[in-house]
Amino acid sequence: MRVGLVGWRGMVGSVLVQRMQEEGDFKRIDATFFTTSQAGQPAPELASTEVLVDAHDLDAIATMDVVISCQGSSYTDAVYPKLQQAGWEGYWIDAASSLRMDPQATIVLDPVNRGVIDAALDAGKTTFVGGNCTVSLMLMAIGGLLEADLVEWVSPMTYQAASGGGARHMRELLGQMGDLHSEVAEQLADSHSAILDIEKAVTAKMNSGELATDQFGVPLAGSLIPWIDSPLPSGQSREEWKAEAEANKILATDNPVAIDGLCVRVGALRCHSQALTIKLKRDLPLAEIEALLAGHNDWVQLVDNTPEATREALTPTAVTGTLNVPVGRLRKLSMGPEYLSAFTVGDQLLWGAAEPLRRMLSILVA
Ligand code: HSE
Repeated sequence: MRVGLVGWRGMVGSVLVQRMQEEGDFKRIDATFFTTSQAGQPAPELASTEVLVDAHDLDAIATMDVVISCQGSSYTDAVYPKLQQAGWEGYWIDAASSLRMDPQATIVLDPVNRGVIDAALDAGKTTFVGGNCTVSLMLMAIGGLLEADLVEWVSPMTYQAASGGGARHMRELLGQMGDLHSEVAEQLADSHSAILDIEKAVTAKMNSGELATDQFGVPLAGSLIPWIDSPLPSGQSREEWKAEAEANKILATDNPVAIDGLCVRVGALRCHSQALTIKLKRDLPLAEIEALLAGHNDWVQLVDNTPEATREALTPTAVTGTLNVPVGRLRKLSMGPEYLSAFTVGDQLLWGAAEPLRRMLSILVA
């Protein structure tokens, strides 16, 4: 199978290539590496061509059986419609959001919706798109309850990492952290200095306009931003809107689940976390809930509702770089026995972006 990779040098693309190497995927395909800026330069060793091929060369793209794009929506918008018009019959696998809600597109998250993917393939569909990172990570975490049709609604309150904005956002966050530390390094080194003086100096620096804020608009280090993506007439941010729209499309359910909450950017690097309030359709014992959650897929991990286990396993620090999707802080809320709390963390670049695409390719190659 001839597989074209576009956007493989970016953050999601790099994680995708790394995962494909780890799983030996390149042995099962003929990989062509495309580029938007360096056509003709030497291709990586993994490629079956000597040189990088121009990603806007439609004739070259059209010779592929599968194209995987991590290049972003503007590339998809420029190239995908032309390929369709030209009658290209290959499979398009995409990390960008622009095609997600297209009726021809299937949002892929096979541990959750393998049946939906298989039905799409049987129906001759060829467009498969990765979901929004928070949506995919939430469904990996609570797929067991959704599959058992136990969920009336979910309110996810997110704690989203800088990587969701992109590589430059991560750099900006780390730069801000360094600048804030430098501002008070001397006082910090003196254990007798007054903490409120240190705080005052840090707060003054944050409000000084001196920190780099080109990406986030305001300082994120030492702070948070309760808005992600563009505003919608509903008062939601687009990120918040995606939860219900995409999750129900992924589940392809006849009974859509209401899913709505607030999305917040925090100073984590690449793990998105979510506090979930779940209204169950009926009261059932916590042990049954835990069994359903744990049994749903190979990556979800229950974390005991203790301070020690939570600190050990339910943080971005513990999860970054792994495919684990821990879910903890499980307990019935005081609102009533059908109200469940949960907290989950997941790597935004792995299950949140690259892994569902890699696995979709494996389904096609199998
Ligand atoms: N939109 C997400 C975020 C990442 O900004 O965190 C991509 O799914």
